[in-house]
Amino acid sequence: MMNVIFVKDYDEMSEKAAEEISKVLTSKKDAILGLATGSTPVGMYEKLAEKYKKGELDFSQVKSVNLDEYVGLPEDHDQSYRYFMNYNLFDKVNIDKKNTHVPNGNAPDMEKEAKDYENLIDSLGGADIQVLGIGGNGHVGFNEPDDELNLFTSVVKLREETIKDNSRFFKSIHDVPKHAISMGMASILKSKKILLLASGKNKAKVIGELLNKNCVTTKNPSTFVRLHSDVTIIIDEEAAKHVKR
Ligand code: F6R
Repeated sequence: MMNVIFVKDYDEMSEKAAEEISKVLTSKKDAILGLATGSTPVGMYEKLAEKYKKGELDFSQVKSVNLDEYVGLPEDHDQSYRYFMNYNLFDKVNIDKKNTHVPNGNAPDMEKEAKDYENLIDSLGGADIQVLGIGGNGHVGFNEPDDELNLFTSVVKLREETIKDNSRFFKSIHDVPKHAISMGMASILKSKKILLLASGKNKAKVIGELLNKNCVTTKNPSTFVRLHSDVTIIIDEEAAKHVKR
């Protein structure tokens, strides 16, 4: 089932997204959360931390797997995804850091790291819910539009447009890593539920492609979520601009 929730703005998207995660956490104390970074889920993490503070959520038995990580950034670099997750969520709730997994972008053998990460996802039995943002070019995780998409966790080369998009977080565009390690499309689809979030006009084109047509295309990797049987998509007015209703 695909459940599309239209909301007004970023704040309402974040609130609704936090509610979806809360539902999973209250029905399963030891849930496996599939998590994403980027600017989209920051508000959702804030709301989850607030709910934790109010005593509404307990992360003590929760485990997490993140979608991706840059290759070659030190863990404590403020743009590494490990740093992002600690800062935006893990340090603010009672999750045990040992139970939080982000691919290691500095492993001596990155191919092995990718295989090990995929095995880890399998050993956890897949995520109970996977949060996804979407790139302005339709990428999910770092699965960039191409003739072929990876099935499983792999080392990937970032597209020029993604390097440009993400340069806003770095001092200069030259500091943006050229490679990342990312779950593949099958790794993502192993999750029991998918929660895709989109906010802002930069996402309108790819969200239109995703929702207006009943097909998948490697030119817009987000369309592959249409193969999943339990997807919730939360989009704000700007991102929904091209959606035919
Ligand atoms: C992040 C990730 C990326 C982002 C996407 C959107 O873990 O995998 O696919 O979700 O690049 O980024 P923002 O949210 O910054 O627009």
